[in-house]
Amino acid sequence: MPYQPYNYLDQTLQEVSTPEVDNATLASVVFYCTALQTPEQRNATDSTVVYGSNLFTQIGCATCHRPTMTTGYSPIAALSYQTFNPFTDLLVHDMGPGDDDHYTEGTALTSEWRTTPLWGLGLAPNVQGGTAYLMHDGRATSIQQAIEMHGGEAAVSAQRFGALSASDQNALLTFLKSL
Ligand code: HEC
Repeated sequence: MPYQPYNYLDQTLQEVSTPEVDNATLASVVFYCTALQTPEQRNATDSTVVYGSNLFTQIGCATCHRPTMTTGYSPIAALSYQTFNPFTDLLVHDMGPGDDDHYTEGTALTSEWRTTPLWGLGLAPNVQGGTAYLMHDGRATSIQQAIEMHGGEAAVSAQRFGALSASDQNALLTFLKSL
């Protein structure tokens, strides 16, 4: 029997008079997305990457972009109790007035955003036509710009990034591009 993680799928499909996909197809797509491999870090042992990774923690980026998490139980054995590196705490944070789009979603403030996972960050330009469009609305076209747009709860770590020497900034960016 195909894996069906979400029971509400059946109910949702029954409420739609002419569903365009049947349950089995939808369950297969959900399974495919659930089981996708996460992007793997490249050059993890390169000395600049390691140095940049330490800076990432030192200036406070890792408090929100949490490097390591462990999954709970999953009926898919390969996903059960796995340690993985999402670089997010999966929480929303107030990013300040500069990142406020004045559009209400649920109970979040209009300046609150979920910490973006940074896995695959260095690969983003490859799938976005050569340029990475970062932050919730793609307003940043470089990692450095994205960092400079961090206000609110993230303002202090962004200021610490700005205060680093040019070579330390480059090491941090080299680390981020390895993700
Ligand atoms: C207070 C929590 C917090 C801290 C500290 C923080 N970030 Fe973020 N970061 C976020 C949130 C929330 C977003 C999403 C903002 C948005 O979508 O507009 C984000 C987005 C990003 C992005 C854009 C990713 C993408 O794919 O769009 C990058 C790059 C990034 N952060 C790097 C950093 C770096 C480097 C540091 C340290 C200098 C840092 N962040 C510190 C919360 C934080």
